Amino acid sequence: MAVIFSAIFPILGALTLCCVYSHPQKLILFLRVVSKRPDGYHHLSSIFQTISLGDILTIDLHAQDEFTCTDPSLSMNGSNLISKAISLFRYKTGCKQCFKVHLTKRIPIQAGLGGGSSNAATTLWACNQLTNTKASIADLKQWSGEIGSDIPFFFSHGTAHCTGRGEIVRDLPNLPIHSLWVVKPSKGLSTPEVYHRLNFTDSLSAKIVQEDLDSFLSGCLPYFNDLEKPALEIEPELYRLKTSLLKGGFEGVLMSGSGSAFFCLGQGVLPKHPHLTFFSAHYIHRSPSSWYKEVP
Ligand code: C5P
Repeated sequence: MAVIFSAIFPILGALTLCCVYSHPQKLILFLRVVSKRPDGYHHLSSIFQTISLGDILTIDLHAQDEFTCTDPSLSMNGSNLISKAISLFRYKTGCKQCFKVHLTKRIPIQAGLGGGSSNAATTLWACNQLTNTKASIADLKQWSGEIGSDIPFFFSHGTAHCTGRGEIVRDLPNLPIHSLWVVKPSKGLSTPEVYHRLNFTDSLSAKIVQEDLDSFLSGCLPYFNDLEKPALEIEPELYRLKTSLLKGGFEGVLMSGSGSAFFCLGQGVLPKHPHLTFFSAHYIHRSPSSWYKEVP
């Protein structure tokens, strides 16, 4: 069986029996923490956007599960989100199939770009295609919320308003294509630690949350992230980085999710520093019946 979804390996793909998937990262353009939940999670009102950066996942049917990854720091045992996605797929569908997976990690972990979540969503999509199971997008989206709050978003078209823990996803019209820079410091940040530091005790009213969202979508409210302040408190060096990016003349500079990556919109000069990696990217979208195709 040959099912090819990658835009960048069409010739190689036609000669192999595996699926090669490129998968996107996400930016959080707007994130309001609404309240703390009794289970320790936080209710959010946020806008997620997929961008043209990503890892490459090669997946094939196999006699037993086998995982390899180019990044040795990433655990490839059962705790990895790819393993969890495969177990979830088998549990939900009753399918007994095993898979061989190779992950070419190109975007650093602990960046706030949803790399692990994207890996999991891509794995679920690939398992469904390779086994010809025909679970609906709605099913994959719903199941995926059981293993991570940010995974269902990747089953949207690429621009969505995400609420609940992040797992309630409502597609939004595509935003205009923005070119941007993603700036990743070598040091990462732990998502639970950033939420913990936030120490959120408020509870925003539904009216305020709706007004904020409407203002953002009409262009009146700037890009905004409630997790930026606690992240900068944990790593004050990131505050200095944000200041120097703003001094470079960019129109907007914001931490993505729980960090540590920033995205910079508009024109500007990037600082030179050995601990910084820069990625040029733009917004991308998925067509209804296929996976994201475009990575650099
Ligand atoms: O669901 P996920 O594994 O992505 O969440 C990682 C951690 O981030 C959680 O354990 C929790 O500490 C925090 N989190 C949160 N509220 C959310 C999403 C995540 O507090 N809406």
